[in-house]
Amino acid sequence: MSKVKFTYDGQEIEVEEGTPVIDAARDAGFQIPSMCYEKGHCAQNSCLTCVVKVNGNPNVVPSCSRPAEEGLVIESDCQEVWEVRKTALELILSDHIGNCYAPCTAVCPARMEIPQMLRQVTEGDYESAIKTVKRDIPFPAILGRICPEACEGGCRRGRYDTPEAICSVERFVGDQDLMSDSPYMPEFKSKKGKKVAVIGAGITGLTAAYYLTVEGYDVEIFESEGKAGGSIHTQFSRSELPESIIDKEIAHLGKMGLEVQHQKTLGAEIQLYELCESYDAVLLTLGKVDSEMLVAQGLEMKGKKLKTDAQTMQSTIPKVFIAGAMTHNKDRKVYSIAAGKSVSICLTQFLSGKPIVGREKRFNSVTPPMSKENIHTTLEKVVNQEDRYAPAEEAGTPFSKEELPGFEPTVAAQESSRCLHCDCRAKDACDLRDYSELVGASQKHYKGVNRGFNPLNQDDDIHLDAGKCLQCGLCVQLSQDAGEELGLTYKGRGFYTEIVVPFDKPLSQALTHSAKACAEACPTGAISFKNESPTYNNPHDKC
Ligand code: SF4
Ligand code: SF4
Ligand code: SF4
Ligand code: FES
Repeated sequence: MSKVKFTYDGQEIEVEEGTPVIDAARDAGFQIPSMCYEKGHCAQNSCLTCVVKVNGNPNVVPSCSRPAEEGLVIESDCQEVWEVRKTALELILSDHIGNCYAPCTAVCPARMEIPQMLRQVTEGDYESAIKTVKRDIPFPAILGRICPEACEGGCRRGRYDTPEAICSVERFVGDQDLMSDSPYMPEFKSKKGKKVAVIGAGITGLTAAYYLTVEGYDVEIFESEGKAGGSIHTQFSRSELPESIIDKEIAHLGKMGLEVQHQKTLGAEIQLYELCESYDAVLLTLGKVDSEMLVAQGLEMKGKKLKTDAQTMQSTIPKVFIAGAMTHNKDRKVYSIAAGKSVSICLTQFLSGKPIVGREKRFNSVTPPMSKENIHTTLEKVVNQEDRYAPAEEAGTPFSKEELPGFEPTVAAQESSRCLHCDCRAKDACDLRDYSELVGASQKHYKGVNRGFNPLNQDDDIHLDAGKCLQCGLCVQLSQDAGEELGLTYKGRGFYTEIVVPFDKPLSQALTHSAKACAEACPTGAISFKNESPTYNNPHDKC
């Protein structure tokens, strides 16, 4: 075959005549969105996210089905092309049924990966469960006893009978870790050679110190009182939160190398200007304090509150960051933890010389509320149908006789198995999500057909979720090309088209040897495996 030359966004490319433009441009280093094309297979022409302009023609064409020819002039980085791509994505999103994050995670101020923790507790894998929890919450034994349970308010199971007992399971995971001979130790990143002073050893300061240490910073904590923990010592009754739990869980920070210097009060034993000279950054998490003292330390006030940048969490002194109750009135400890994690992200960005953008929120597909009938169908297929479990009266607690009892391991597993698994297993590898974020597509721009929610079937290793399928056709073609006897096929027309297994056979029979290829090629989480690799990176921030 002869070679041809064409230009792509002003760059000359030489390829075999007939090579799809998308392949030639990608090989030359250009990035082109695509959701229904796999190199080496026929173009499906169904997603329209790969469109380009050819020879100045105002009508765009898919680059996956346009063969390269001598002298073609292709334009892709122009407003018309990006607008068509955005419209194509918004049309796909209009009837997309899936939650990138489960509703419980979406409303949890700390953004904990709740369904992942519940799956791990169901399996009895406490080592993984504590890793999941501590990615976002360094004090689960404390928080699991006192959290206002915002996540349970968002739990989809609550629309059917009662919400999943998320906080009690979180407490259980935290307690198991406290009782373990080798409690969880996070993986520390390499030392950065930079020092941070944290002033205030309340929950916000301790949380920030925890995550900054994980990031490789040397952290010193200064506290005016004789104990770390701040108001958690006084805000709750001993039956809600025994002192021994607070002490045990905070003591774990010492094993990470973190020490608290007590009886050090800002404005008395320590001065802000001295800290600024000795440290690369300073974090103030003092709770409610006298504004005159802060002004005397060189900080500026706006009314009764400290002047801070809401995005960067910086004060008017750039290396001084502020978090927690100094800037807001949210008294609940889960907000203190969320603030501590957020400011650690801002500090990490600042100390590594990156723009301070804070904790970025990723695109999150949101499914309309599920009907009771829809949940019932799900329950029949996938999960424990029993109503919420309570800790046995006599179960007691390993830590204090006066304390409210917690779950026993068997009950924790039973309760966890009530979860409907509303999260998407593909959230870290979904083209639809990545491209929607790239072009700023909105799920609400067009109104599509609600095709019903179809959570992962826990009985099958591989799963096909019609609500997340964009009918790109890749799996149909790949299973056919792989010589599958059954394979997959289309059913219905127009908006109601579905990808199905012929003769209602199980998916595992349709994809006997091409399941992995289909799941990998699927541009969404429509085809996914039950045993996903758990995610421990933070999907809510990009630093
Ligand atoms: S059912 Fe499970 S995944 Fe769904 S909202 Fe409730 S806890 Fe979260
Ligand atoms: S398929 Fe993609 S966009 Fe849809 S819920 Fe899953 S991760 Fe989100
Ligand atoms: S299930 Fe098949 S048709 Fe649907 S999005 Fe995935 S690969 Fe495309
Ligand atoms: S139309 Fe080209 S990748 Fe979908």
